[in-house]
Amino acid sequence: MTRKLRAALIGFGGMGHFHATQYKEQKNCELVAICDIDPEKFKKLSAEINLGNSGVADLSKVHQYLSYEELLKNETFDYLDICLPCHLHAEYAIRAMKDGKHVLCEKPMARDVRLADRMIAVSGKTRKFLMIAQCLRFEKTYSTLKKAYDSGKYGKLLRLSMTRCGGAPSQGWYRDVKCSGGAILDLHLHDTDFINYMIGTPDAVLTSGVSRVSGGIDDLMTTYYFKNGPIVNSEGSWCRSKWGCTTVAVFEKATLEIAAPKVIVHVDGRKNREIDCSGTNGYFNEIAYFCECILKNRRPSVASMESTRESIRIVLAEEKSALTGRRVSLK
Ligand SMILES: NC(=O)c1ccc[n+]([C@@H]2O[C@H](COP(=O)([O-])OP(=O)(O)OC[C@H]3O[C@@H](n4cnc5c(N)ncnc54)[C@H](O)[C@@H]3O)[C@@H](O)[C@H]2O)c1
Repeated sequence: MTRKLRAALIGFGGMGHFHATQYKEQKNCELVAICDIDPEKFKKLSAEINLGNSGVADLSKVHQYLSYEELLKNETFDYLDICLPCHLHAEYAIRAMKDGKHVLCEKPMARDVRLADRMIAVSGKTRKFLMIAQCLRFEKTYSTLKKAYDSGKYGKLLRLSMTRCGGAPSQGWYRDVKCSGGAILDLHLHDTDFINYMIGTPDAVLTSGVSRVSGGIDDLMTTYYFKNGPIVNSEGSWCRSKWGCTTVAVFEKATLEIAAPKVIVHVDGRKNREIDCSGTNGYFNEIAYFCECILKNRRPSVASMESTRESIRIVLAEEKSALTGRRVSLK
């Protein structure tokens, strides 16, 4: 039997609590340590995030540290699970890889493409795996849609429409564009990343957007142009009171709609069937996949570093389009 990989998690806030709960049923890894600069975070058994309550993680055998240095000095672990604010991702991912650890890092990969490139370069030099936790790539509903697209089962994709809107998170760093990048980078990136994953890089983007919460683009609508490809739109916002996301894909022979945990297939304007996608969620699946890659010494390809870096490039083109009012080419 192969040994279980030892994971250490840094950033025990909302997402840190959420990740911690996902280790309970993992086959190939165990959470051995958590690290946060704020000791109050260890007192909270669960956290509320836009996805709901994180649930309670079993931390009875998990060691707690107040700094990365202390964690590194006292703990043996195979990979660092980074749930820090976005502006710290590159710094800690690079440190951990240089310290001989693989890295699973929350999205967004980095605040800009230059930093993402440095992360990729360090991964290459240190031969440590780096995977960005773009969770939609690991959600069964979204992978069902991608399979339908790849297989051509319902004909060509004609149009894709996605929305992801809600209120702004309360933590201060989210409300500072220098740290979070605003809703366009922090939230809307999920949809941009899925579009990139399923269809590829658009030829150009045109975004209209406004700033309200962070000083960045916090409410927006993008059209992604694909030559001879589908018409794609996506809307994102931190300026709404009700949280929700929708995904509708119009193929030649059917329309697929994500209504988690199901994908509904409509044919001729009627519900034809429902595909059940219940079971483990994207967060559980991404951890399981990353560990499998480490154990098999296989570079993570579902969310490759280069592909998640490309999603940052696309989002930043959207931001430029919103700021200039012009269509921005990605060629
Ligand atoms: N995939 C998703 O669906 C999803 C959802 C929410 C958040 N996220 C991402 O998760 C990340 C964290 O977001 P969050 O909502 O949990 O933020 P948060 O503010 O709740 O948590 C961040 C934690 O990091 C700690 N921290 C800050 N600097 C530190 C340091 N140097 N060393 C150790 N700990 C430090 C803070 O004390 C805090 O507890 C972000 O990148 C965010 O975009 C992803």
